[in-house]
Amino acid sequence: MSTPNGSTPNIDRLRGFIGDFTRLVERLGGNEPALLAEGRTLLAGLIAADDWLPDAYAQPDPVHYRQYLLHCDPFERFSVVSFVWGPGQRTPIHDHTVWGLVGVLRGSEVSQRYDLRPGEPPLAHPTEILPTGAVEAVSPTIGDVHAISNALADRPSISIHVYGGNIGAVRRSVFDPQTGQPKLFISGYANAAVPNLWDRSKAA
Ligand code: FE2
Repeated sequence: MSTPNGSTPNIDRLRGFIGDFTRLVERLGGNEPALLAEGRTLLAGLIAADDWLPDAYAQPDPVHYRQYLLHCDPFERFSVVSFVWGPGQRTPIHDHTVWGLVGVLRGSEVSQRYDLRPGEPPLAHPTEILPTGAVEAVSPTIGDVHAISNALADRPSISIHVYGGNIGAVRRSVFDPQTGQPKLFISGYANAAVPNLWDRSKAA
């Protein structure tokens, strides 16, 4: 497996992040504001370098955005996912029901937050451009409904997300943009195998 410049991915970086995030969840799992504040710093550190994501987890699909599971905590306290958007691709309006952090690794994304209003269309906030390196947070306590799209018309964008659960198996909702009507949504993952973090034979 390789990175965009053809070199071997620096998987140590992802392994280190997962170790640090596991410690963070152990320490601050019951304190969401503190966890998001420190988690934001950890994620910003991970996406500050683009030399670690194996190409297999950076492949766009011609039609839909893709989400690749990179790691799930053994107790499903958090998961780490790479989202890959081809040109023009976007998510529907959706919620998460758990906290989430979004960090842009490659390219640029548009974030659109919404307020739900019973019986009315979701109310859109002003759009926000997330450049490479930006991190944003969502959760039921700070605002949980948004849509994300690729800001670039000519190439994929990739973001790394961390969620407070095994996000691919969480029962959540997408919302009709005209009526606000929710529909059950369980996202799953595009991949069947996760990156091998543990071949440390070279270092040994
Ligand atoms: Fe989201």
